[in-house]
Amino acid sequence: MDVSSKKAVVFGGTSGIGLATTRMLAAEGATVVTISRDPSKAGDLPSGVTVEACDVTDAAAVEALLNKLAPYDILVSAATGGARAVGPFLEMDMDGYKGSFAKLWGYAHVVRFGAKHVTDGGSITLVSGAPARNCRPGQIAISSVGGAVEAMARAVAKEVAPRIRINVVSPGTIDTPMVALQGEERTTAYTNMTKNNLVPRAGTAEEVAEGLMFVIKNDFVTGTTVDVDGGWLIA
Ligand SMILES: NC(=O)c1ccc[n+]([C@@H]2O[C@H](COP(=O)([O-])OP(=O)(O)OC[C@H]3O[C@@H](n4cnc5c(N)ncnc54)[C@H](OP(=O)(O)O)[C@@H]3O)[C@@H](O)[C@H]2O)c1
Repeated sequence: MDVSSKKAVVFGGTSGIGLATTRMLAAEGATVVTISRDPSKAGDLPSGVTVEACDVTDAAAVEALLNKLAPYDILVSAATGGARAVGPFLEMDMDGYKGSFAKLWGYAHVVRFGAKHVTDGGSITLVSGAPARNCRPGQIAISSVGGAVEAMARAVAKEVAPRIRINVVSPGTIDTPMVALQGEERTTAYTNMTKNNLVPRAGTAEEVAEGLMFVIKNDFVTGTTVDVDGGWLIA
């Protein structure tokens, strides 16, 4: 797909990976509607980008917005959805574990209410995370959610084929506002998180957005997950 003059809708598009994807789509000539609970956090956006406020966990709000914006050629969700539980599974607060699935429910809403409005030849792209297939200590919640996201996309790909495509991009540790630490503390945290990876540094939101652009543009890619993780999976 040549994205120029196409219409894109990006949930979670006001920060980090979603924002980088929004900017890349706009730079290639797409019209982009970028969405989050507080879109003001996106700051100045290039021409061709407009913002909407919506919480992906609110099914009725997602449905209404996707109906209003229809039709679109490119549908993306990178929205984190909510907080994640961290720590050993056997000691984990079960409400926290269940709550971590807000990301999956958000993606499910976007896919269920958006797929029918994606134009023929268009695509849906979601974002999982490297723990889905190589869980490190304490990451059972994000591993479970990421695995579910990837399984959902593989399953939905069969339902929507051959009219549209759906894919997932799986990032490793990426330097985005998702981590609130600042200064020295932030640098140390990223160094420790990535020191055993094959590429021992945090990735950038732009490096992951390049992965999203690949699956959006390549008409021969569907039902798959593209890893942009600095070698996390085999480290
Ligand atoms: N950064 C990493 O190291 C990493 C690693 C693996 C996977 N990922 C995944 O990559 C995706 C993007 O993460 P990121 O690092 O770019 O995070 P980020 O910078 O925190 O951006 C998250 C975006 O999602 C939006 N969002 C969160 N909850 C939402 C909700 N309930 N409804 C609507 N929008 C919501 C946020 O805006 P509002 O707060 O205004 O709603 C923001 O635009 C996430 O799915 C994350 O799990 C990230």
